[in-house]
Amino acid sequence: MAAEIRCSTATLANWSGEALAVGLFSDDAGAASRSALSARFGAAIADQLERRRFKAKPGECLSLDLLGQTPGQLIVVGLGAPADFGPEQLRSATAAASKAAAASGCSQLGLAMPIEGLAPEAAAAAMAEAVRLSLYADQRFKSEAEPRPCPSQVELLALGDAAQAAVASSGAICSGVELARQLVAAPPNVVTPAALADTAAAIARDHGLELKVLERGDCEALGMGSYLAVAQGSDLPPKFIHLTYRPAGPVQRRLVLIGKGLTFDSGGYNLKTAGSQIEMMKYDMGGSAAVLGAMRAIAELKPQGVEVHMVVAACENMISGGAIHPGAIVTASNGKTIEINNTDAEGRLTLADALVYACKLEPDAMVDLATLTGACVIALGEEIAGLWSPSDALAEGLIDAGAQGGEQLWRMPLRASYREGLKSGLADMKNTGPRPGGSITAALFLQDFVDPTVPWAHLDIAGTVWSDKGRGLDPAGATGFGVRTLVNWVRAGGPA
Ligand code: BES
Ligand code: MN
Ligand code: ZN
Repeated sequence: MAAEIRCSTATLANWSGEALAVGLFSDDAGAASRSALSARFGAAIADQLERRRFKAKPGECLSLDLLGQTPGQLIVVGLGAPADFGPEQLRSATAAASKAAAASGCSQLGLAMPIEGLAPEAAAAAMAEAVRLSLYADQRFKSEAEPRPCPSQVELLALGDAAQAAVASSGAICSGVELARQLVAAPPNVVTPAALADTAAAIARDHGLELKVLERGDCEALGMGSYLAVAQGSDLPPKFIHLTYRPAGPVQRRLVLIGKGLTFDSGGYNLKTAGSQIEMMKYDMGGSAAVLGAMRAIAELKPQGVEVHMVVAACENMISGGAIHPGAIVTASNGKTIEINNTDAEGRLTLADALVYACKLEPDAMVDLATLTGACVIALGEEIAGLWSPSDALAEGLIDAGAQGGEQLWRMPLRASYREGLKSGLADMKNTGPRPGGSITAALFLQDFVDPTVPWAHLDIAGTVWSDKGRGLDPAGATGFGVRTLVNWVRAGGPA
């Protein structure tokens, strides 16, 4: 059970409960909370912090037992220099405090964090997300769940009622992130294309959204030769999933969220080899998980004025006598012919037909999320997703929406001359260019399937969907990356 999170008018001076967490700055500007700490718990606290060499650096966290007192546990967390303070620091300090409270087995936690320079709503949302997302654990695949003490009641001190609504919406967003994490973490024998369609059906049923699932025959009728070429090697049928949220009242904007939904990517006949992390390729549906998670949150938040469509061309990339040959030429639903010079560049083949379908919805903007290239992981690492878009306004809106939720996006170039690398002697194009700039040619490939009048952005989340060791708000494993960016972007009404 997720902790119940409330805003409270109680303060560091008077909150009573089991564990009190206090954020401290690393230099004298933080003297206010330091003296409040001494005022409540005595000057000995300052001595103890000194003795234990607490410097209040970012990420530093000390847990002190106050035997026989209320609170019985004092958790101090470092915030670094006040000049560097922002939502990111607030989130990581809150996550550290939450984990410390859980480790000490406390069920009530009071969080006394400075919110200097932040709107109370933004601060409350950042803290609520940090508490819930950092304490997340996934025990679905254990035969017996390990007992895991977690705070069941968390109070955000000195915030008051004004910020309570922000906490409530962050609850919906966190449910979306958790759904995405569960989908990504689940193994490929559980999360199949049909399971993704079932997840969409459950969201549609629970929240009254519209759902259309196109079967193989429907996709054939639409001429989706590119997507179906990827799907044909699998024993599992492809599912082309289209989920729609319609607001009550007038529609000002129509947006489409598209997710790569490869529930397993073996590489096909260009089989992934040792060192290519083939055993991790269950997470190749991370884009679809992000858009499903976002739709779940949107369905619950019911933003006004925006109609939101989700499109996922789900399938597996497998090997069999029926699998596509390297060198095959296929025709996508916009009539373009593609020479498949590498069956492991399958994501873009599925997205091609998804993008053509999405453009027919005549959206005001559309965004695709995909674990598209290893090259993007090399370029930007685990913490930053690549962003490609011909539209400055759309790119900026997405970067802002990401920053608001603690997800980093970095804009990359759609360098037109690199399109040369995709030229084919026989077909209109190849699906794979040279290795250098591999994430850029992948984005350029996608652009060929986008109507130039539709504002479009592509996010390569290959590096960010999974964290081996865990970091900040992300426990080790699936991160649910993309949900917060998308929901914040949709709530802001899409493109500027
Ligand atoms: N799903 C992979 C991309 C990937 C790689 C995601 C590593 C996460 C971690 C994608 O389908 C793929 O195989 N891409 C190839 C493209 C290449 C053949 C042009 C790649 O990046 O190696
Ligand atoms: Mn691949
Ligand atoms: Zn893939």
